[in-house]
Order: sequence, then structure tokens, then C-alpha cells
Amino acid sequence: MFKELIDRLERENNLTAGEYLELIRARGQVRDYAAGRAVEVKKKYYGNKVFLRALIEFTNCCSNNCYYCGIRAGNSRAERYRLTPEEILSCAREGYELGFRTFVMQGGEDPYYTDDLMCDIISEIRSLYPENAVNLSIGEKSYDTYRRFFECGANRYLLRHETADETHYGKLHPAEMSAERRKQCLFELKEIGYQTGAGFMVGSPFQTPANIVSDLRFMQSVSPDMIGIGPFIPAKGTPFESFPAGSVELTLRLISIIRLMFPYALIPSTTALGTLSPQGRELGLKAGANVVMPNLSPVEYRDKYSIYDNKICTGEESAQCKTCLEQRVKSAGYTIVDSVGNVKRN
Ligand code: SAM
Ligand code: FES
Repeated sequence: MFKELIDRLERENNLTAGEYLELIRARGQVRDYAAGRAVEVKKKYYGNKVFLRALIEFTNCCSNNCYYCGIRAGNSRAERYRLTPEEILSCAREGYELGFRTFVMQGGEDPYYTDDLMCDIISEIRSLYPENAVNLSIGEKSYDTYRRFFECGANRYLLRHETADETHYGKLHPAEMSAERRKQCLFELKEIGYQTGAGFMVGSPFQTPANIVSDLRFMQSVSPDMIGIGPFIPAKGTPFESFPAGSVELTLRLISIIRLMFPYALIPSTTALGTLSPQGRELGLKAGANVVMPNLSPVEYRDKYSIYDNKICTGEESAQCKTCLEQRVKSAGYTIVDSVGNVKRN
């Protein structure tokens, strides 16, 4: 029965809402069968390759107050930091020398980095490393700001929609934030020409299986190039600090389902998976993921970007992190490549 559903998902990249629900509620062998098919599909598009992204977490100052996030404005436990433009450029230089061809600049929604300052940094990186992809992940901005950043040389943008269901969104965020605006941003980013990434947390507080179906359906309407999912992990000092973490097993099953729905997509095996399970990132690759994102931020700031508790990779130098991930990818049966790793739609 499940096998038939998975086979049809592979053929048609789509199921009914009721069928998705069955797969989300299922247990046991479904995961292995789905993972096996997902890996085959991934190989058709990307062979044995796993792409590297250099993650530069350049500020943990944030004006937002998402209830789940350890760097939310209201978390007085968070020790704040900002990288200077020179520090960001030095991370980029180190990353380039280590072979990274994509920089992911991620941070809180930090007004210190005005549009002009961001444009200066993006333009500088673009002119120094013309063959690299510049991927931003700095939250919701106006259409004009997204366009300016694109014109300066940013060409990818990650913006998880977090949850497509408005009621659920309202339980995870304060009233001034809206699911509608978050979703609209994704369509604007696509329209401008970015390779665009959506995604959500698995097991966020109050999430129901039906919410996950809405997430899958919403992503079908966006057709994102990149899809980031990871388990929710509680963060001390946040309103959700006592909620249980999301399930690794369900996250892996969803990676496989998403691979079958979006065969072409770039799907990271996330740090959150590696935080909850020692082999989590290897398992993510074996479930259908094809991207890993080693941390390139300066070691002295790493543990301060604590969006959730016990985050891994906070003590290692960038080169160590890269070597460690290369080993992990190899042990999962794949090969890390240094290429820019653009999306392959067919
Ligand atoms: N400010 C940017 C934004 O809003 O997109 C980027 C930074 S934000 C911290 C990056 C992602 O971290 C979010 O999209 C969210 O899915 C994830 N995240 C935040 N808190 C988390 C938690 N407690 N557990 C797992 N993931 C979390
Ligand atoms: Fe960072 Fe293993 S990937 S130390």
C-alpha cells in the first residue's frame, strides 16, 4: 500500500492530501522504501554529488520575536555579536581558499546592516569571487530591497516559510508577523530572479500532520529551487524552551517525500539533524538530501548563533568542519564537489 503510494509519488510528483497524510502518519518500512526511491531520483539528477555551502552567520542581532528562535529580540540570554564587513570578507576569503563556491550569508533581521551596507558587502564579494554564488538568508525585506541586493550580485535567497497555515503561523509568531507576507516574499524573490529556498521546521510546537500537508502543497505552488527542513529544537530563554524537539525519523521521511515531489531540488542535510542525532546528516543524505553547509563563521562567535540548544560545530575551525563533513559524506556513499552547484531542473 505504502509502496504503491511512494511509486506513484515518484511517477507523478504529487498525491492527494489524504495520501500525504498517510505517509506522514506512517511508520516503519515506509521510510526505508521512500529513502531508497528518493536516493535513486537524486542520483538521476545529481549523480553521487553533494554540494557544499559555506555558511557565514554574520549577526545574531534580530528585531523579530519568533517564539521558537534562540536569537529572538526578547531573549536576554543571547549574547549579541555582529561581524564587521572586513570580518565577513575574511570569512569569504578563507572559504574561497578552502574550495567553497557558494557563500550563504545568514543572520537575524538586524537594522545595523542597512541596505547600503549590505549592497557594499555583496558587491565586494561579487567582484572578488565572480564565479561564486552569493546566497542571502536575512529574512523579510521589501521588493525593492530584494531587487537591489540582486542587482549588486546576490543570486540565491533562503527564506523558510516556517508554516504555510495561517493559524499555525500565528501560534509561532507575534501578531505583527504574518504568514501572508512571508509567503509573498518567496514569490517576489522568484520574480526578481533569485534561486529561491523555502522550508519549515518539523515538529514545531502545535504543528499537526495537516499543517505539514499544507507546507508540501504551498511548496508545490512556489516550486522552490532549494528546500530546507530540519527538526525543531527547543532554545533556552524562549517561550518554547520546554517543548519537545521534532522527530528525526519524520524529518528523514519528509526529506524523502520532498525529494520525490521535487526531484530537481537542492535539499540540505541540516545542522539541526546532526544536533539531534550523531549520524543525522549522513542519514539526511541517505534519505535524499544533496547539500551540506559547514559553518565558516569565526570560531569566537559560533556558539553565540544559538538559534537552538546544543548546536553542533561551534568549536571547530572552518577547515576542520569541512574535513569532518567530507568524511561524513563519504561514509554515506557520496562525494563532495567544489562546484557552484546550481539547481538542475531537468
Ligand atoms: N532571519 C532569517 C530568517 O528569518 O529567515 C534567517 C535566520 S533564521 C534563525 C534561520 C532559520 O532557523 C529559520 O528559518 C528557522 O526555520 C530556523 N530556526 C529558528 N529557531 C529554530 C529552532 N528552535 N529549531 C530549529 N530551527 C530553528
Ligand atoms: Fe562541523 Fe563536523 S561538520 S565539525
